[in-house]
Amino acid sequence: MEMNKCMQLLALLLCFVSLASGIDRSQFPPDFLFGTSTSYYQIEGGYLEGNKSLSNWDVFTHIPGKIKDGTNGDVADDHLHHYKVDLELMHFLGVNSYRFSISWSRVLPRGRFGDVNPQGILFYNNLIDALLLKGIQPFVTLSHYDIPQELEDRYGAWLNSQIQEDFAYFAEVCFKAFGEKVKYWSTFNEPNVMVRKGYQDGMYPPSRCSEPYGHCSDGNSDIETYIAAHNVILSHASAVEIYRRKYQGKQGGLIGIVMSTTWYVPYADTPNERAAAARATAFDIAWFLDPIIYGTYPPEMSQILGSKLPNFSPRDKQKLKANLDFIGINHYTSMYAKDCLFSACNLGPFEGNGSVLSIGYRNGLPIGPMTAMPDFYFTPFGMENIVLYVMERYNNLPMFITENGFASSGSSSTEELLNDHDRVKFLSSYLYSLSNAINKGADVRGYFIWSLLDNFEWLYGYSKRFGIFHVDYITQKRTPKQSAMWYKDFLGGHKITSLASS
Ligand code: BGC
Repeated sequence: MEMNKCMQLLALLLCFVSLASGIDRSQFPPDFLFGTSTSYYQIEGGYLEGNKSLSNWDVFTHIPGKIKDGTNGDVADDHLHHYKVDLELMHFLGVNSYRFSISWSRVLPRGRFGDVNPQGILFYNNLIDALLLKGIQPFVTLSHYDIPQELEDRYGAWLNSQIQEDFAYFAEVCFKAFGEKVKYWSTFNEPNVMVRKGYQDGMYPPSRCSEPYGHCSDGNSDIETYIAAHNVILSHASAVEIYRRKYQGKQGGLIGIVMSTTWYVPYADTPNERAAAARATAFDIAWFLDPIIYGTYPPEMSQILGSKLPNFSPRDKQKLKANLDFIGINHYTSMYAKDCLFSACNLGPFEGNGSVLSIGYRNGLPIGPMTAMPDFYFTPFGMENIVLYVMERYNNLPMFITENGFASSGSSSTEELLNDHDRVKFLSSYLYSLSNAINKGADVRGYFIWSLLDNFEWLYGYSKRFGIFHVDYITQKRTPKQSAMWYKDFLGGHKITSLASS
């Protein structure tokens, strides 16, 4: 066997060996938030119940062919009617925090063009009150890919600067209604994924794109992706500005944004490949975080995109001063980054315009063991690396790991799904890697497992299961998996060792 392959096999082996190293609660600060994470569309159900209107995802999932297994989130985990049961699950785990998202179309069915929906406010107030009664801090996302469909139909949602006013209005309704009780707000979940998939490859609503990125009936991937991102960035800034000016002083919470992060490993140890990996990360997260924190798009992007990137007017720049209080990091996988500026390659649609090909394989070997989710590999080292990257680029602003989790295939038997040792290995190894970053000085203040429950996994419908509680979608029965028992033990202060042998 050639030397290269040998080294890679050794790296995989070492990865497993490191799993045996124990990890326990005491390796994290006492006031660290430990929780689980969900989002409205993926668990709530209650499609048009209680005056809720259609969201973009309600409309999208009802278009035949969009979702692989033909399902939708009309019922999902029916959390709307099971939230008390779900709360007991969290209490059982012993978590001190819960990350969830508010459905914009449940609270403001017509955006700022109609009334606030009292039934929507009541549901979230009930949920928040019940959480607090159990000592669980709500960690609330305002938009997790969702928007009332009316805003899409009226003016093209994220492509129109009017959305900034609508988002700010929605945010203020939430600060007013829930802000006395909510101390952690995120404006957006993964806007980098939302705009790339909505406007570059067209796989998410509103299904806009152009060739060669994807096949859509309308759109312009090279231009609209960046306009949509620009409006998200300024919507974030508008909401934060209002929070700071009118609410933060008396309510005393923190506000941030959550990014999807991948750790990019250079395909080869050469300057071009190292630059490609740095570029991939900039196009992925600095795209949003640099403007929000430093007021300009990252140089790595402007050098390549030039005038394709929209400009921030002096007024926008003023708004951007609102900044943020924390960075939310969703992290699942690492990938190899291959340079396509100086060497020819076949770019896939998701690589964007950074001229970097992101691939999971090198010389026939995966970057880490595969999981049930395509392109999600078991690569715990990525957690430490991405946290250190964010720490260095953004002066160690407070960070929360807002998502980290492992997918099982929905076609496995219930018994296999419940005995999810592979998930336990995954979570404990990533936590171990996170503790390394903290030991190196990273100001990380919390960690949330994706997800509390098996749920609707976007384009994959119910065919992937991320939950630490199994959900029987017919009876809505929740059953703890091994991973739930492990998390409970971990949070209870038990030392967890020898995971590799389990
Ligand atoms: C999203 C979740 C999703 C998870 C697993 C994240 O990108 O925020 O909504 O279910 O990854 O794919």
